[in-house]
Amino acid sequence: MEQYVIYGGKSLAGEVTISGAKNAALGILAGAIMCDETVTIENLPDVSDINVLLEAISAIGAVVERVDRHTVRINGSTIHSELVDYDYIQKIRASYYLLGALLGKRGNATVALPGGCDIGARPIDQHLKGFRALGATVTTENGFVHAKANHLKGSHIFLDIVSVGATINIMMAAAMAEGQTIIENVAKEPHIVDVANFLNSLGANIKGAGTDVIRIRGVQKLHGNTYSIIPDQIEAGTFMCLAAATRGDILLKNVIPKHLEAISAKLVEVGAEVNEYDDSVRVCCSHRLTGSTVKTRVYPGFPTDMQPQMAAILMLAEGTSYIHETIFESRFKYVGELRKMGAVIKVESSVAMIEGIEKSSPAILKTPDLRAGAALTIAALATEGKSTVTDIEYIERGYENFDEKLRALGATIERQTVTPGRRKNKFA
Ligand code: UD1
Repeated sequence: MEQYVIYGGKSLAGEVTISGAKNAALGILAGAIMCDETVTIENLPDVSDINVLLEAISAIGAVVERVDRHTVRINGSTIHSELVDYDYIQKIRASYYLLGALLGKRGNATVALPGGCDIGARPIDQHLKGFRALGATVTTENGFVHAKANHLKGSHIFLDIVSVGATINIMMAAAMAEGQTIIENVAKEPHIVDVANFLNSLGANIKGAGTDVIRIRGVQKLHGNTYSIIPDQIEAGTFMCLAAATRGDILLKNVIPKHLEAISAKLVEVGAEVNEYDDSVRVCCSHRLTGSTVKTRVYPGFPTDMQPQMAAILMLAEGTSYIHETIFESRFKYVGELRKMGAVIKVESSVAMIEGIEKSSPAILKTPDLRAGAALTIAALATEGKSTVTDIEYIERGYENFDEKLRALGATIERQTVTPGRRKNKFA
């Protein structure tokens, strides 16, 4: 078991380079197997979720060659199996993208039903509805989804719920279906556009990604290419919150400021200073922030993946704040941990009411999920004294070199391995 021991209370300052987008990479790696030629993917984040998906891809027979830490070559011509085992899917939910990719490529896929961060029920009915509309027979049995089609045919699909995963999964299957597919009410997140751009760079014909309607003309074959993944919107947002929470001054390099607009606007609203440049953003703050209301929305709204980090800021802001979580029903698991630091937070169904406190106290904090773990780390860094953030394996699913990047900004943070039952720093 791994943990961070943090001596907080310092203003963090300096430069940080943002890694490639994890959620784009997950779709892109799955999409890469649809091609029988070699695809080179650059700016891949070195995080555990990506490494698990690469293992899953390799286990079904694709050639996966690591060129360097952030570059991988994939060749899907040697795939010999359409079965993606539970071992992978229980570790990363997004292995379900192999359903759309294998169905599009081979007309057949069997993938275990997804696990992933426990932030809500997270059904996949919209994915399956899309596959069925394309002509696949889809069944679920013994914890597996089977999708099979002799011939995938383009269709008109209206998603009942705006879903990132369903949009990407259906888009991939339809990329190699016969004729035109129109998907309405799709998600517009930056990583959806990135997956579409990637597939187009291999010869797919996908139009409208980033709008409410995606139109796809199926192609028979994709060709090899080299593609570089966009920067991670959520990693960037996390460092922006960190600058604000620690009254610091951080320049984030390798970002697309447009993708950060909702986060920038909220930070400005609470009193931080945000300056945008071509491919960098600087966030600084020298005073106590003020409370606000945050409502999570699909892109371009405020991302649900940023609400825990925002809570870490608001717990110390002046006045009363409200966070309304509209996407996932179990996304307040970090609240109990922040309360250990003295935070005054009341949760009623999907709304958290936060009465800002002036000073928090250090504590031992248990990470319940990926983004909550990032939020607890921010809270610990903003709190004077020694805190411990445990179960950081969750955090490392999505943040590359998190502790190293934080140290480079002046944080005192140590990563420790703890033998179960003999946790160090029991009394922080
Ligand atoms: C993706 C992101 C995740 C982010 C989320 C919302 C990846 C790998 N993960 O997750 O980090 O928090 O988008 O921005 O990109 N839903 C259904 N039926 C479906 C599909 C979804 O009811 O078939 C519901 C979900 O329960 C949720 C909402 O739709 O309430 C949005 O989920 P979705 O956009 O699909 O999230 P993910 O793709 O799982």
